[in-house]
Amino acid sequence: MKEFKLKIYRYNPEKDEKGTYQEYILPLFKGMTILDALFYIKENIDSTLSFRAYCRAAICGSCAILVNGHPKLACKTQVKDMLELFETDTLKLDPLPSYKVVRDLVVDYSKALDRFMKIKPYLIPDPNVVPLGKDEETIIYPEEHKKYDPYTDCILCGSCFAVCPVKNLDENYAGPFQFARLARFSEDKRDAIKDERAKLAFSLNVWNCLRCERCTDVCPKHVPITHGIAVLRSKTINEFEDYVGVKHAKAIFEDIKKQGYLNENTLIVRTKGIKGALESLPLAFKMITKGKTMPFFQKKIKNQDELKDLLK
Ligand code: FES
Repeated sequence: MKEFKLKIYRYNPEKDEKGTYQEYILPLFKGMTILDALFYIKENIDSTLSFRAYCRAAICGSCAILVNGHPKLACKTQVKDMLELFETDTLKLDPLPSYKVVRDLVVDYSKALDRFMKIKPYLIPDPNVVPLGKDEETIIYPEEHKKYDPYTDCILCGSCFAVCPVKNLDENYAGPFQFARLARFSEDKRDAIKDERAKLAFSLNVWNCLRCERCTDVCPKHVPITHGIAVLRSKTINEFEDYVGVKHAKAIFEDIKKQGYLNENTLIVRTKGIKGALESLPLAFKMITKGKTMPFFQKKIKNQDELKDLLK
């Protein structure tokens, strides 16, 4: 039988000053998942190994770890697929980054969950829409359901939060799965604070998202997190039109509409005003000397009319 190696992060805060890696050689069974491999080690080689799992069916979200540096659900990930993908016979398993390690592959989610609770992550029934009688029900039409259905697939595995760069820089930033949940309730007619959800997202710095899309890339359930963030942002555009992020988005849109690309020479003035532009002069000067600026007068791109149609 073919064998493979797992190199697993081990850390016991009661004994170890820092984490180390331990290697295990295992037989590769047909259909073996990473979680099967972890259970194999626990039951046959080393009972001290700690990891978290429950449903074994990609539903509870508790088994998320890093496999060769990529967030994966251990119960959904085939060992064979990973060995082939990385063209190796050794896989490295780590706890999700950004969380405090409790032991080995088990992390403490409380930081992410504290931010989650700030968004009121539950349906608050609107008495005008949700009937109180137990024999009555709210009818949701397919086109209404379609708007929030993709966000309901989130299983709170925390992978998106682990890779989000903004949550490290901004303590007030709610986080990717948190915003996906807010987007979900902002589209649900049964929710009493449906129209307040986007404002809540604004107060939790939804405009600070960098749109790197790492969260959406790593989501094991393919939740369109970045799209949810865009939905929340678009719902705040009119109310917070003086906000720098809103001005920035509008200026970019106008440029694309007008000439097909961004005019970075004037973008800063339109976004931050004269004072902000003056403050950015050192950076502008540096860009000029490095040849990183665009020509001041720019022509429209070819086929600009087609682009306008697209924007419409
Ligand atoms: S064990 Fe529940 S998602 Fe993997």
